[in-house]
Amino acid sequence: MATSNTPTKKRDTWGSKLGFVMAAAGSAVGLGNIWKFPYTAGESGGGAFVAIYLVFVIFIGFSVMLTEFAIGRRAAVSAASAFKSTDRRWTFVGVIGVVSGLLIMGFYPVVGGWSIAYIFKVSTGLLNTPEAIGDSFGGFISNPVQPLMWMGLYLLLNVFIVVKGISGGIEKAGKILMPLLFAILILVAVKGLSLPGASAGLEFLFKPDFSKVDSSVVLAAMGQAFFSLSLGMGCMMTYGSYLKKKENLVQTTAMVTAMDTGVAILAGVAMFPAMFAFNMEPSAGPGLVFVVVPQLFAEMGGLIGLMLALLFFVGLSVAALTSSVSLLEVVVSYLIDEKGMKRRTAVISSSIFMAMLCVFSSLSLGGVGPTLFDTGAFDIFDLLTDKIFLAVGGMLICIFAGWRLNRSDLEKEITNDGEISFPLFGLWYNLVKFVIPAAIAIVAFTGIKAGFDSGKGEIMLIGVGIIGIAALLSKKL
Ligand code: PHE
Repeated sequence: MATSNTPTKKRDTWGSKLGFVMAAAGSAVGLGNIWKFPYTAGESGGGAFVAIYLVFVIFIGFSVMLTEFAIGRRAAVSAASAFKSTDRRWTFVGVIGVVSGLLIMGFYPVVGGWSIAYIFKVSTGLLNTPEAIGDSFGGFISNPVQPLMWMGLYLLLNVFIVVKGISGGIEKAGKILMPLLFAILILVAVKGLSLPGASAGLEFLFKPDFSKVDSSVVLAAMGQAFFSLSLGMGCMMTYGSYLKKKENLVQTTAMVTAMDTGVAILAGVAMFPAMFAFNMEPSAGPGLVFVVVPQLFAEMGGLIGLMLALLFFVGLSVAALTSSVSLLEVVVSYLIDEKGMKRRTAVISSSIFMAMLCVFSSLSLGGVGPTLFDTGAFDIFDLLTDKIFLAVGGMLICIFAGWRLNRSDLEKEITNDGEISFPLFGLWYNLVKFVIPAAIAIVAFTGIKAGFDSGKGEIMLIGVGIIGIAALLSKKL
């Protein structure tokens, strides 16, 4: 199928139903699940964070994803154009989504690059000296040059896939490689659980201690839910715009949410028991998976350990790729639909911009480059997107669906003109119209307030300011 988005031609659609579910799950399952979820859970006290995260996934994540699919399929254009064609005052929500895509791609490829680098590090003897694995990671990410080269390679892979277009590139990659990753994770988890002392890790992950919870933990859990499910920035909307009219949106949403959450929990089970067995700190930070997993396989030793470690980082790199291509696609489809660019030009120009942001992010980890309120570029991009833009974006998408769109149009879209029954429609509608916007507003407000103690509140507030300005300029966007 050719990739063409000119309004006169029929828009591309996904080759098959499984193809769509796998591609949407491919977008959702990524570094967010395997790299971010375990270390955020570790830093946020474990079980209670995980419990709150699950509540957000079920009550907010599911509903927001269904909303994005419905709006996207109904409009059949990129996110910003979907808002614009209904009401120009709402264009900013789509544009903020594009900005989120750019900013997430300002740090995601850095970590994606680490993952590819680890394929090579593992094959060139990283596992031979288990005691040096931790220091080796620290030395690697703070090196000014090496990580940049890997990041560059990672971004090039993205460019290649996205230039090829929807069903050609993304769908095929997702179909083959997602199940492989799942299998490797199960193996890692089984190995971790077999170590002596591993049960303390399970307890840490699943036994909630709510005394450790404050508003920053709640905001972190909400941000994690949005980030992991690829919500709040029009990504699932854009994917939905390529979806055929006869597919069952509710079922698709349930499958994608379940897969994404399953992989995150599995990644937790793969990592924490091993960490406790190795006497490592659960709050080890962003290096967690790059230290624990190699250590685990070094422990295993021999050719099997080596092969599994290799497969793990291949799988992680692929999972990261199927997510970052979806981020790039949001920006690219905006440039195609709204700015009339050719696909190739759109991909190349946006990736050059992303590469520049990534240079700042990567250098900031070695303490080089500009800071804002004592925070480096990597953390700024993460804070702005994960904590503010995605959640507030999700809130605005819900308000748009609940208050600007027609209830009966939404019902028609979700039930495929009455062909599919969705008995919970009323519940979903009321969640989207009232409960979710209010819940997000409260969590964001209290979370930003708590963030002032650690110096992060200021940056999150700037994020809110940017959204406000975009809203005011909406008609000009
Ligand atoms: N969900 C992806 C992950 O977990 C990241 C992502 C966020 C992708 C937002 C698209 C949109 O890695």
